[in-house]
This record gives sequence, structure tokens and C-alpha cells, in this order.
Amino acid sequence: MGSDGRSDLLRTQSPELALRYKLKTMPAISAFAPGKIILFGEHAVVYGQPAIAAPVTGVHARAIVSPILNGLSGQIRVIAPQIKTEDDYHGLPVDHPIAVAIAGVLEVLKPVRIPACELRISSTIPIGAGLGSGAAVSVSIIRAFSKYLGRHISDPQVNDLAYRVEQIHHGTPSGIDNTVITYEKPVYFRRGQPIQFLQVNKPLTLLIADTGIFSPTAVAVENVRKAYNEQPEKYSGIFSSIGEISAQARHLIESGQSEQIGPLMNRNHELLQEMGVSSSELDHLVNIACHAGAQGAKLSGGGLGGNLIALVQTLDAPRIAAELMGSGAVHTFTTTIRASNI
Ligand code: PMV
Repeated sequence: MGSDGRSDLLRTQSPELALRYKLKTMPAISAFAPGKIILFGEHAVVYGQPAIAAPVTGVHARAIVSPILNGLSGQIRVIAPQIKTEDDYHGLPVDHPIAVAIAGVLEVLKPVRIPACELRISSTIPIGAGLGSGAAVSVSIIRAFSKYLGRHISDPQVNDLAYRVEQIHHGTPSGIDNTVITYEKPVYFRRGQPIQFLQVNKPLTLLIADTGIFSPTAVAVENVRKAYNEQPEKYSGIFSSIGEISAQARHLIESGQSEQIGPLMNRNHELLQEMGVSSSELDHLVNIACHAGAQGAKLSGGGLGGNLIALVQTLDAPRIAAELMGSGAVHTFTTTIRASNI
């Protein structure tokens, strides 16, 4: 919160007036966070295998914090219309994802006082669709609220706090969603290991298509957990094959051999089918994309519904998108993973 001559003068004469002046002149603070796609390695990444993810800037979550002029110090009004939430922070259950994000900021910053505020959350990222909506909401809240309190939270801290919220969404998150969304860069991610950013040699155009089927990550992750407990050898084998694919894909992406990436996506999708996290709708749309000329396609994220991604030539994207829409997709959009500035 900045200061000017008038507020300095008021502070010496009347701290209360100074505070009111400060709040009145304080702009609303907002922060955005992108969505994400998983190019390779979902689910296997929970079991220690590497995975590749990239931010998707065409969709985002946004948190806006504005002061409440006559509010009581410490009041944080939370408004999130898309999840039908309107309540004070203290009225939210302690394990509510938004409450956990706010509590994390308070724990790190330990502010002496919190000027009453309204925290408004909105998002263009579909919920339960594998595009990282939960992590993006957390990151936007953490950044906007800490800024409102006049303090900076480092990226590693944002990442740690967002990870805590991911644990609410599903008990055993790998951490890939919060990492790629916090840093907004393509990552080669391995659970519990230092973050490795991917050096993308040539841009990749991906078509993202939504089956329209709501699918919470927690359900898919739990299904895999049960299946793994029942058939550990089979599932360990699938996970390692996926890990090898991620490693090969990293090499192809970093050396610019993009024409060989598509077949790896197809193979990753087959392994996800074997794992039991695909669905007839995802399989159908993956086939449509490949027959329409995509270089490769797979589900992305938790699966059982949600979105698939298809690697395409930029010029082919509108035609393939039209075929997908004509075959049951409810929404499509393209995203580009840009080449890194090495
Ligand atoms: O949140 P989603 O649906 O994008 O899935 C995240 C990826 C998983 O590997 C399925 C889970 C995880 O924690 O890595």
C-alpha cells in the first residue's frame, strides 16, 4: 500500500482518518493464473514417473481483492459465483480450497492487521476438465491477496501454498499442476525433484477439445490407486512405460524433432486406456482427431472425461476442430507452446 503527502499528514493527525484515506485511494488488486495441459505422463507422475506439462494462456483464473471501506478489520468477504460461494473467510469450512489458500498466505505473511476486503474469484477454465482450474484459482488468490497485504510472496512459496490446496482437491497430488501454473513455463516434472523447465526448440500447436463430461481429478486418481493396489505389477509396468515416453518426448521437444511427438502421444493414450482412465467419448474424439490429420492425440489430465489434446499443423487446426465439434466435442480451442528463448 503506497503512501503520499496527504496520507502522511493525516497519519500524524489522525491514524484512523489516514487509514480510511488509504483504503479509499487504494486500487483493487488483481492476479491472473493460466490453465494447463499435460502433454505426457499424467497419473504415472503421481507414482514418481516424469511428466511434461505446459501453461495454457487462452484460459485463466482471476482473483480481485478490493478494500471494503466500512468493513471491520480482518473481514475477508469471499465471492466466487461459479462455485456459488459467497461468505466471509471465517465462515468457510477450514478445508475449503479458497480458505486453505487464504490461510496459507496469512501463515506466511503474518500480517499485523488485515484491512477489510472483498476477494472476488472468476475463471474461464472449465472445472473438472483436466485444465488445472483448481491450481489456477489457488495461484491467483495467493498472488492477489499477498499483494493486497502489501507483501511479495516468492514463486517457490506460491507453489508450496498452491500445492497444499491441491491436497484438498485430491489427497496425493504430484504437484505438476501447481508447478506449471505458478511458473507459467513448460516443465519436465518429477515428483519431489527440483523443477526442470523444458527448452522448447520449435513451437507446437495443440488443439484442445472438451468432451463436456465433468470429471473430478480425485475420482480418476482414486480409481487408479485402487487398481494399482489390486494389480501392482501391471500398473507399475504401465507407469514405467509412460515414464519412458515422457523422457523420449522431452528429447524430441528439446531437439525440435516435432514430427515424432504425435506417435508418442498416441502411445501414451493407449497406456492411459489400459490404466482405465479413458472413456468412450475421449477415445472417439482422439480417433476423429487422428483421422482428420492430427499428428497425435491423447486425453490430458485426470481423464474419464474432460479434455483431450491433439498435435496439429497450425493451418489444419480449424478443419480438425470443426470435425471434432461435429463429432461430439462441446468446445475446442488452439494453444501454442512457444519456442523457449535459449
Ligand atoms: O488436475 P488434472 O485433472 O489436470 O490432473 C492432474 C494430473 C494427475 O496426474 C492425474 C494428478 C496429479 O496430481 O498429477
